[in-house]
Amino acid sequence: MRSKNWEMSESNTDRLSRLRATLRQHRQDHLLAHWETLSDDQRTALLDDIEQINFRALDELIETQVRQGHPFPIPRDIQPAPFYPFEPGIDLVAKYADAVKKGIGLIRKNKVVAFTVAGGQGTRLGFDGPKGAFRISPVKNKPLFQLFAEHILGTNRRYGADLSWYIMTSPQNDAATRAFFVENDYFGLQGERVRFFQQGVMPAFARDGRILLDQRHRISFSADGHGGCLLAMRRSGALAEMAAAGVEAISYIQVDNPLVRLIDPLFIGLHALTGSQMSSKTIPKVDDLERVGNFVLGDGRTMVIEYSDLPEKLARARDDRGHRLFDAGSIAIHVLDRGFVEQLTADEGHFALPWHRASKKVAHVDDTGRRIEPREPNAIKLEAFIFDAIPYAARPLILQTSRAEEFSPVKNATGVDSEATARRDMNHRAAAWLHAAGFEVPFRNGGEPDGLFEISPLLALDAGHLREVLTTPPRLARGAANYLG
Ligand code: UD1
Repeated sequence: MRSKNWEMSESNTDRLSRLRATLRQHRQDHLLAHWETLSDDQRTALLDDIEQINFRALDELIETQVRQGHPFPIPRDIQPAPFYPFEPGIDLVAKYADAVKKGIGLIRKNKVVAFTVAGGQGTRLGFDGPKGAFRISPVKNKPLFQLFAEHILGTNRRYGADLSWYIMTSPQNDAATRAFFVENDYFGLQGERVRFFQQGVMPAFARDGRILLDQRHRISFSADGHGGCLLAMRRSGALAEMAAAGVEAISYIQVDNPLVRLIDPLFIGLHALTGSQMSSKTIPKVDDLERVGNFVLGDGRTMVIEYSDLPEKLARARDDRGHRLFDAGSIAIHVLDRGFVEQLTADEGHFALPWHRASKKVAHVDDTGRRIEPREPNAIKLEAFIFDAIPYAARPLILQTSRAEEFSPVKNATGVDSEATARRDMNHRAAAWLHAAGFEVPFRNGGEPDGLFEISPLLALDAGHLREVLTTPPRLARGAANYLG
């Protein structure tokens, strides 16, 4: 056994000789191609990178996923998945009411935490910075993170809670994300209630399975997908911290959806009442090929098949009444039992969700030291997706919600799911809440709100709540910006 001291003082030369054999054995010795040209610090950085990789575990993945490129396996028997409807029928009214009570009880006792996966790079949006810093609200231009923070503050006020918020970052955006919260004084939350942890990384591969170098002394690593949050929660100590605080449920959202109801009593309550270990929200799709995951029963198990993996014939299939057969789109909102995450990741060394393969453009340095900026996809990245945990969950539950209420993600610079559509949908929802609360809202002839409307989550968390708190009619100006906060 090597002592800790010995390890700390191990020279780069010793480390090199230890790692050289491993690299050769796993056919990755090109990673040392530039060794002779590196400074001592650069050598240390490269060895640190190499030591992060479990080459033995990678071998099979490289063979099947990178070299052979097996398509993601999908089940033989695919049926629509059952879900709880948005509007409860007469048989469900009492259950939904009980669920709301149950959810509020859990929130009040701080048995729930908010959790946001924010490790992505937001490449499609073309925004230089963490996506949560992207400004999106129609009147005040609040960034996504502020909307979520205010949702938590609003929930705390409404229910007398003191909820924690976990945010998963990646090595690429961790420092910038933390700095953004510090600069903004945590948007009114107590700093110690906002907990950051970093997700894991995976190397990028050339198609022949060789790991790519980002620089002569740095491996090309990228985030290992939002599915990486499970292990990252354990490794960072977040899971242990939640257990110590008596947390039971983790309310999971993506960073890109400004309409999301980050803490939803009905959803959390139904999850708890039914003993589900992992629950999800769904909405009806806008068209057969909408780019969202599909909830299905695959060989009898609830799961999500990503749009890119669902055969087009199934995506276009109709039932007897002519309705879209696979209509339950995933909006990437979940509740996970803390105990479920513990159970899944208990054997840390062996737990892994399945990997999904993506062909990407990855700039890199070749064996001669030349920088390659590819125009076409040249590399394979592997990512794990959180929804692949659903088939492992006992009693997985799906709750339908409404697109207008809860889903308008900011993914692209223009067109669908862009800044423009998210602003429009926030505006529509605010006007609809005001209208539903019985106030005079200026609409144009076509039914579009005439003006800009924004309701702070600090004032109201949903239409019913708005009705309760706004006792005097607000003055809403036609064609102007109206902010209620
Ligand atoms: C995702 C879902 C899709 C769903 C849609 C709803 C996947 C693969 N697909 O699509 O089924 O219908 O959202 O909007 O997830 N992230 C990390 N770390 C990573 C990668 C991503 O934290 O390594 C985070 C991002 O910051 C973001 C979220 O995960 O919050 C979504 O990632 P993204 O890759 O943009 O998923 P989509 O393809 O938009």
